[in-house]
Amino acid sequence: MDTSSFGIVIMAAGKGTRLKSKHPKVLHEIGGRSLLLHVIAAAKTITTPEHIYCIIGHEAERVRSAVESTGVGFVLQAEQRGTGHALQQVKAHFTTGGEAPPEHLLVLSGDVPLIRPETLSALEAFHLKEKAAMTILSAIPSDPTGYGRVNRTNTLAVEVASIVEQKDLKPGDPGSNEINSGIYCFQTAALFSNLDRLSSQNASGEFYLTDIAALLVAEGQRVVATVAESVDEVLGANTIAEMMHLDAVMRLTAAHKLMAQGVTIFRPETSVIDSGVEVGPDTIIEPFVQLLGNTRIGQDCRIRSYSVIQNSVLGDNVLVRNGCILDEATVGNAALLGPYSHLRPGSEIGEAAHLGNFVETKKVRMGRGSKANHLSYLGDAVIGAGVNVGAGAITCNYDGVHKHTTTIGDGVFVGSDSTLVAPLTIGDRAYIAAGSCITEDVPADSLALGRSRQTTKPGWVAERKAKTKPKE
Ligand code: UD1
Ligand code: CA
Repeated sequence: MDTSSFGIVIMAAGKGTRLKSKHPKVLHEIGGRSLLLHVIAAAKTITTPEHIYCIIGHEAERVRSAVESTGVGFVLQAEQRGTGHALQQVKAHFTTGGEAPPEHLLVLSGDVPLIRPETLSALEAFHLKEKAAMTILSAIPSDPTGYGRVNRTNTLAVEVASIVEQKDLKPGDPGSNEINSGIYCFQTAALFSNLDRLSSQNASGEFYLTDIAALLVAEGQRVVATVAESVDEVLGANTIAEMMHLDAVMRLTAAHKLMAQGVTIFRPETSVIDSGVEVGPDTIIEPFVQLLGNTRIGQDCRIRSYSVIQNSVLGDNVLVRNGCILDEATVGNAALLGPYSHLRPGSEIGEAAHLGNFVETKKVRMGRGSKANHLSYLGDAVIGAGVNVGAGAITCNYDGVHKHTTTIGDGVFVGSDSTLVAPLTIGDRAYIAAGSCITEDVPADSLALGRSRQTTKPGWVAERKAKTKPKE
């Protein structure tokens, strides 16, 4: 079936009053990305960006700049007077712009984000097969409240007589249980020739795109509907609660996709996994883990509860103990993190390295098998292989104006509670005595002590007691 004659329109100009938010509805996020980006992504799987037109209006510039990089085009709906009015702007775009409109239009709603590409392709194919002027994607949810209702010409017919908005149902009329998803195909000419006939004489005082159905039928044109395979994919997001429901559906879908690929996820309903995250087989994810952004995790890893991993890459056999935060970090095979390690951007942790309790890293390259097990801050540092960083050791990377680098060679032993004042280079195999403040470079194979010498006064306690004996 040739579906190349389709252009795609995404309606995204509305304010989203029911969200009670200062941000435009289509920029609200589910599954780690805005509603509109989800819809654009679906659209881009079936056509190229130059055939996609986003109708923007409320906070148009903000919406435009948030999605501009996708390459789609924009049509401005300066005043938002309803979905029919939105399509009137598309008509104006083509008639005044001199650009020939595509033969068919696939119209999507910017707030129906779970729609699957397969469903859209099937809808286009159905529209062409039925030779319809308008084809509606519908669904039959358990509770149709709030949606526009599709009225068929008779219960078994593919043909539709009209769509009635919830608000415009007659008092006492429960309406049909088949809902309009807000996703349609149109023969462009049939749509355009009827847009000017829409009226705003209805409960909302808006120009409804849905009224086009009855107008086309009155002209003797064919309007049909096809029921989506899954109800979830056509659910709209008008309120925060609806949006969070879609978020949960999306995260759970991502978790199930990973489980189908051999990943074990305990209590998947508690995990927050973005749709782009990749995880290798035999990795185990404990409850209440967040895997966000472009995170990639290898196989045979274990991610313990309450860890949040964002835009990071982990090798195989990595153990992330409870409560770790990773952001733009890279972790080699068989490394061991946490509990409560904080890997900030630019942390590159080598194979079999260990970062332990309350260790914070930033812009650090840590070599193979090196360890910092307790209470450290390691920033702007290049650490070799087989290094032991003692408890509480700290790189002082910031002089109040500039950041400086600490370079630590292979096999170095950094004693507990050392402060390493950058810029600083410590040669291979050197030892830093515990409690040292190191301000000068340390050559290889040397011991550096940077602490005051201990004085011990034998018998001092007894003498003091005798001198300060309380009066009787
Ligand atoms: C709409 C449909 C309803 C359907 C439901 C499915 C109409 C009249 N009703 O209702 O039948 O069941 O979607 O989710 O179409 N928009 C604009 N410009 C406007 C108004 C809206 O671009 O002037 C955009 C919105 O940003 C949104 C989409 O169109 O992305 C749908 O608008 P919304 O107000 O959410 O329509 P619903 O009341 O949900
Ligand atoms: Ca809606």
